[in-house]
Formats: sequence, C-alpha cells, structure tokens
Amino acid sequence: MCGIVGYVGFRQAQEVVIKGLKRLEYRGYDSAGIALLNNNKLSVYKKKGKVSELEGFIKDKELTSTIGMGHTRWATHGEPNDENAHPHYSATKKLAIIHNGIIENYSALKQDLIKKGHTFLSETDTEVFIHFIEDIKEKEKCTLDEAVRLALTKVVGAYAIVVISLEDPSLLIAARKGSPLVVGVGKNEFFLASDATPIIEYTNEVVYLNDQELAIINNGKLTIKNIANLPLTPYIQTIDLELDAIEKGGYDHFMIKEIFEQSRSIKDCLRGRLDSSSGRLVLGGLREYLNKLVNADRIIIIACGTSWHAGLVAEYFFEEFCRIPVEVEYASEFRYRDPVVREGDVVIAISQSGETADTLAAIEQAKSKGAIIFGVCNVVGSSIPRATHAGAYTHAGPEIGVASTKAFTAQLTVLNMIALIVAQKKGTITEQKFHELLVEMENLPAKVEKTLLLNEKIKEIAYTFKDSTNFLYLGRGYNFPVALEGALKLKEISYIHAEGYPAAEMKHGPIALIDKEMPVVFIATKDSSYEKIVSNIQEVKARKGRIISIVTEGDTTIPAMSEFVIEVSATLEPLMPLISVLPLQLLSYHIAVMRGCNVDQPRNLAKSVTVE
Ligand code: G6P
Repeated sequence: MCGIVGYVGFRQAQEVVIKGLKRLEYRGYDSAGIALLNNNKLSVYKKKGKVSELEGFIKDKELTSTIGMGHTRWATHGEPNDENAHPHYSATKKLAIIHNGIIENYSALKQDLIKKGHTFLSETDTEVFIHFIEDIKEKEKCTLDEAVRLALTKVVGAYAIVVISLEDPSLLIAARKGSPLVVGVGKNEFFLASDATPIIEYTNEVVYLNDQELAIINNGKLTIKNIANLPLTPYIQTIDLELDAIEKGGYDHFMIKEIFEQSRSIKDCLRGRLDSSSGRLVLGGLREYLNKLVNADRIIIIACGTSWHAGLVAEYFFEEFCRIPVEVEYASEFRYRDPVVREGDVVIAISQSGETADTLAAIEQAKSKGAIIFGVCNVVGSSIPRATHAGAYTHAGPEIGVASTKAFTAQLTVLNMIALIVAQKKGTITEQKFHELLVEMENLPAKVEKTLLLNEKIKEIAYTFKDSTNFLYLGRGYNFPVALEGALKLKEISYIHAEGYPAAEMKHGPIALIDKEMPVVFIATKDSSYEKIVSNIQEVKARKGRIISIVTEGDTTIPAMSEFVIEVSATLEPLMPLISVLPLQLLSYHIAVMRGCNVDQPRNLAKSVTVE
C-alpha cells in the first residue's frame, strides 16, 4: 500500500506534495514524510502519524522548492515511527527514495552492504534499496537512472519508487513493478503519484507506467524505458475525473458521502448499457471473449474483502440464471494452493481498486493455467483491468473511505448485467424474466434513494447499540452474503466484534453466543426463504437475543417479533442485496461515529492492499 507523490515544475513542491498525500491517505496513514531540494540541500522531514502531523511539523520551516516528493505509509518492515517513515536517505545523503511495496531480498542486500561499511538508520527494506542504488552508482560510475535500472534488475519484490538527487535539481526517477504509479504531464511540470487523484487538479494528461518500466523526468522532459533498457514511447491518456468526485462535498466523512452516492453510482453503472424499453443490454468490454463465458463449464470468482462478498452474491445469480457452476475463492487462498483450472473454466476477478496484490497474483496463477480472465474493477487504468483479457468497469467514481460501500453495489450491478447477458445468450432465462429484471434494475436507483431516507431512524438504532461488544448478522440465500458484508462493515470501522452467518447455520454454533445482551441483525426480506428465517428469528427470540430486522415494507410478522425494524422497498429477490445492504452500511457508519472512530481511515487498514 502506501501513497507516493512527486513533483517537479514551477509550483511550490511542498504544497503540491502535501495536498497530494492527503488525497492518497486512504492507502496508508501511519507516518508521512517529504523530501525537498532546498537551498542546495536535500532535506527530509518525516513524522509518525497522519499527513496533518507532517504538515504541522514543516509549517514554520522556510521551505521553497520546485522539486520534491512525499510518502504516506502503511508499515510493512519496521513499526510506524519517525525513523521508519519515508523518504530514506542514501549513505551520502545525496539521494533519497520513497517506496511503495516490499523488497523481498532486502536482508541479503543489507548484509552485503553492512560488510562494505554501510550503517542503517531504520529497519526498512526501502533504506537498503537506496543504499544499494548509490553503491551501484559509485561502483559502475554511471548515471543515476542507470544505477536505478541496474538495481531494479537485482531486487526481488514489488515496488513503486521515486528517487531524488541533490546533484540533479531537475531530475526525478520513478519505476514500478506490482505497485501502481501514474505520471501527470502538465505544461512545464510533471507529477508522480500512486493514482491520478493528486494530479487531476493540475492536469488530466497522464501516463500509467507498466510493470518493469522507469520514468525519467529530467530538465522538463519525460523519458520512459523498461528495465531491460529499451526506450519506450510514453502513451499519454486523457482521464475523465472531476475534482468534486474526490472531495467530501459537505459531508462529514467520505464514507457517508459514498453511501449517499449509491443511487447515482448505480445509475452511472447502468448508463448506456441497459435499456429495458428496447431490451438492450450491452457491455462493450466483454464482447471479444463473451463466447468463452457463455460456453464456460465453470466460473471461478476470485476477490478479497467486500469484493469477495459481491462474488458470493454473483454465485447465486449466475447459478440461478445461467446454470453454470460457480466457485468463489479468496484470491489469497487460490493463488497458493495449485488450484485445478480446466479448459472451459472462466475466471472473474473482482476488485474495487484494481490493485489488490493477492487478486493480481491469483489472476496470473489462473492465466498461467490457460484460463480466460474477466475483470470487474472500479479504478480505470489500474493493474487488474490491464492484466485481464476482458471485463467491465463499475463506474462508481473514486471510493475513498476505506470501508467499501458504493463499490459493492456497483459490483453487484455489473455482475448482474454480465450474468443476464450470458443467460440470454445461453437461453437459460425466459424473455419475460429477463425483461422483468431489466426493468427492476432500472428502478434500483430510486429504491436506493428511498431506502437511504431511513438514515435518521438507523441513527437511533445505532445509538442503542453503540456500546455493544458483539454483533451477529444472519441472512439466507441472496441475503447471506449481505450478512457477511454487514458484519465486515461493522468490525472494520467500529472495532466491534461482528460475525455474519447463514441464518440456518446459527444452530451449529453461534446460537451459543445468544443472550439478552446480544444484538442479532436479521436480513429477512420477503423472499423464497422467508418462512425459514422467521423460524430462525423465533430461535433467537426464545433465547432473549436483541433482534434488529431488515424487512420488506408492509411485513407485519417479523416486526412483531423484533425489537427494532427497518423496512426497505420491495424488489426482486436476486436484486435485494443492492437494497438490503444499505441499512447495514448506515448502521456501521453511525455506530463508528458515535464511538469516536475514524471511519474513513480505520486503524491498521488500508484501502488498496498492494502487499500480500
Ligand atoms: C481492503 C479494503 C476493502 C476491500 C478489499 C479488497 O481490505 O479495505 O474495502 O474490499 O481490500 O479490495 P479491492 O480493491 O480488491 O476490491
């Protein structure tokens, strides 16, 4: 993870870098640092804590510089403290580096350097990296970019780096392998960043670096080459990203803003793709490989976290309408267990960020076994869409709160569309059902908006349960993955222990936890397992559990058995997760706020998990 920003041009570098780091804080926020070339000095300032701590620390220093770089960290090697924060100096302090990723062979490199007399101030792999680069530069008597290139041929692991040098005040060198890096190309200025968000207020022209590529910005000129020293022509793309999309816009937190954006983000996701009046349903990015999906013997879905939950919902949807067996795998497990991938298997990788290291590695694993891979991603131009054969973007817009909300509902929207296209082609869905689902998907944005009006009521429920220490979430069928997602949302932002279960599994263990203190959230909308879940609610009631039920409007049976009831709009059973998850997002949000938690940046987490 970690966020990196670099700048060279005519503006005050520290301002661009600090602002950029704040935009990238979702990637990690345990320490931050900045390096500036200032009065013929390469100065590094770094601090444990958030970017605002660093900002306060440098506020009174007289800094003027038009070249600099900064880093916000999610610790891998070494605890989060001032020493381990980036940037790190080389031995002579003439070079400094920022790094996102892990150098796996750093220990061997460190031992060699120690033998040569190097001493290290931090416990990081990154400090070893910059000492190693300088050592090569001195030994080979070569340019800095050549030394960086040579070093990269020797390191094992993942990286996005930026290197700055006291001796070259208009030079920044960047490189990537496995961690994202974008170059922003302005007029007489260049930007480097982990994603485009720190760049877009200055320019929308960007170059996405590919793995094993270096970007050398020298005297106002950008050169790209690969680590085999082959020069490459920079491919400049114009990105379509508005500044509003990455700011809080009057909300207290990004998470609540993103929850409330869901009506719009589902609409954006459907726009130009689905039109029930003409029966049109098209996803351009699937076309080339659609037949592989239609003829698939099995679909394997790989993902992590919330995206994995979206995969579980998709399993129900694909199996019901396409009659194709689906397996949903944690990417981290799939990649390490030599999975059986046969001819005829198709893989769908789901990822909001498009950068999750485990998901990327699982894709490579499946590819090496000959599978065709489809991607369902949110961040345009990220690594997963580039590593897959085909796919569809979710178009939810930037999601900045660490807890995923609008990305989840957009993933479900795209996955449903994929399944419906396949089902129609296969003839496993009736025209009537197909049409009915199309119409109802178009109705979803309005139903989402209506459901979000429950916010105040949910806030009251949150107040009642804010001091609980455990929560149980139960659902069946399409609402089972929603129960998992509800529990994940609560634990990640409020630090309350929460578990999600299929409601019927409760009697095989979790029922032992139920007593008069235990809040149990039932996702119990009117569907094919309604009667069954009513029995499960009875079982909890008999043991005096505190029941909070999400029910379909107009239900009278479950409200009579529940302490709190949240009534949501009716929809078709396969689409219910898009509605029933909303109260759970709001409940977690309010509980976390009431407990004084940092909902957008929960402890120990990061939005984009680029380490395994
Ligand atoms: C992290 C985030 C989660 C996310 C998961 C998978 O854990 O905090 O919100 O669901 O990574 O991320 P991806 O970007 O691949 O969907």
